[in-house]
Amino acid sequence: MSLSSPTGAPTTRELIARYDAHAPRYTSYPTAAQFTPAVGAAEWGAWLAAAPLDRAVSLYLHIPFCKRLCWYCGCNTRAMNRVGVMSSYVDLLLKEADLVLARIGERDGRRVRVGSIHLGGGTPNMLPPQELERLFAGLADRFDLGDCFEIAAELDPEVLTQDWVEAAGRIGLSRASLGVQDLSPRVQAAVNRPESFETIRWAADALRAQGVTSLNLDLMYGLPLQAVENVVTTVAQVATLRPDRIALFGYAHVPWMKPHQKLINEADLPGPEARFAQSQAAARYLATKGWQPIGLDHFALPHDSMAAAARAGRLRRNFQGYTTDEAPVLIGLGASSISRTPQGLVQNHAQERDWRSAVAAGDLPVARGVAVDPRDAFVGEIIERLMCDFTVDVAEITRERGRDIAEVAAVWPRLCRFQLDGLVTIDGAVLTVTDLGRPFVRAVCAAFDPGAADIEKRHARVV
Ligand SMILES: C[S@@+](CC[C@H](N)C(=O)[O-])C[C@H]1O[C@@H](n2cnc3c(N)ncnc32)[C@H](O)[C@@H]1O
Ligand code: SF4
Repeated sequence: MSLSSPTGAPTTRELIARYDAHAPRYTSYPTAAQFTPAVGAAEWGAWLAAAPLDRAVSLYLHIPFCKRLCWYCGCNTRAMNRVGVMSSYVDLLLKEADLVLARIGERDGRRVRVGSIHLGGGTPNMLPPQELERLFAGLADRFDLGDCFEIAAELDPEVLTQDWVEAAGRIGLSRASLGVQDLSPRVQAAVNRPESFETIRWAADALRAQGVTSLNLDLMYGLPLQAVENVVTTVAQVATLRPDRIALFGYAHVPWMKPHQKLINEADLPGPEARFAQSQAAARYLATKGWQPIGLDHFALPHDSMAAAARAGRLRRNFQGYTTDEAPVLIGLGASSISRTPQGLVQNHAQERDWRSAVAAGDLPVARGVAVDPRDAFVGEIIERLMCDFTVDVAEITRERGRDIAEVAAVWPRLCRFQLDGLVTIDGAVLTVTDLGRPFVRAVCAAFDPGAADIEKRHARVV
């Protein structure tokens, strides 16, 4: 059997065989796989003390509670519905904020300004409404929220109540992400996540009525028993709600890291070619209905701030995926949260128990991290521009950062194969990922990442 198409250009099957390796999602560089326990609370304390605060910081708060446990889930969470546990968690989130602020120290007697707050999970709407409001009152006591342009939350529509939505209106929630995944009952049964379109429609209407101006829906492809028809039917149905943004995530099957994913019958998982067909079909449908593709897995209506940022080359990538947030300092609070200053990245204890005992003892609850040196920042910017814009002028970044282009000289020979297969074009030092190459952009980024080969197996597949 010939390996090439009659034209000599590689077929989709050949491209997948060649480039669908395991690779990081490049939500940061260095990636979380490079974090080590050698960087901990002492380093984070020192970085906070030196953190640049001329611009507002971003806050990320992780709420690791869910009503149900979906078998595909890759998030750090557990099934928990006890009000007392959540209330003490909120106490500790505020205490962790105090610990962070104590390390930042007095800066001209002014409170630290916050530009955006993101509640992630798990399921932030598991917090009882009064706890949500208590949390925000506590944040307002500690930080200057006067410049806060966005308050966002990841929500499970099945758990959303009118009381919670009204509390969200009072704290000023402006952006909400609702988990949808797939609307076919057969696929939902295969991942233990029943959810009706009516529930999602109600949630979308209720949130918009309370002032949410940017609504995002999370969809997935590559789930067990999922076929192109399921993905396209789901996309078509949710498109009727005109969400400002849609995220279409490929299911990351990593049972060696998330043992509950072993509940999924691997024989039911679509193969790489089927996954590819599903993501392409959804993208084609959304394009015909007016959504602009953003990066690898997002779509936005042209009026949305993410679409505007992408058009202006200002799209960014962080631990929540694609973002418009340009703040240089991100403070993560809660179990497993990741924080960042220009000096480095740290992650809190992922086990809620360990996080609780560290905070209760008055320690910064950091488990691991990595320092970012100027060379990492240089490579990181190249990777971020590729992930966001699919094109990067390496010479320009080299100049702006005062680096030597020889530092990435070893990368160009690695890109030859991509070039021959039509996945990238190279014009001087301008590297551009072609339309054909976009699904494989993580593999292109990995060519710049000296650690990619060692850590390959810990990640999900590229497509
Ligand atoms: C925190 S959850 C969303 C909020 C809420 N807990 C819910 O499920 O509706 C974040 C999103 O991550 C995505 N996700 C979770 N596990 C994943 C995995 N293994 N691979 C790819 N995407 C995943 C899903 O689309 C999910 O909606
Ligand atoms: S997908 Fe959402 S609701 Fe399901 S287990 Fe993960 S965080 Fe919880």
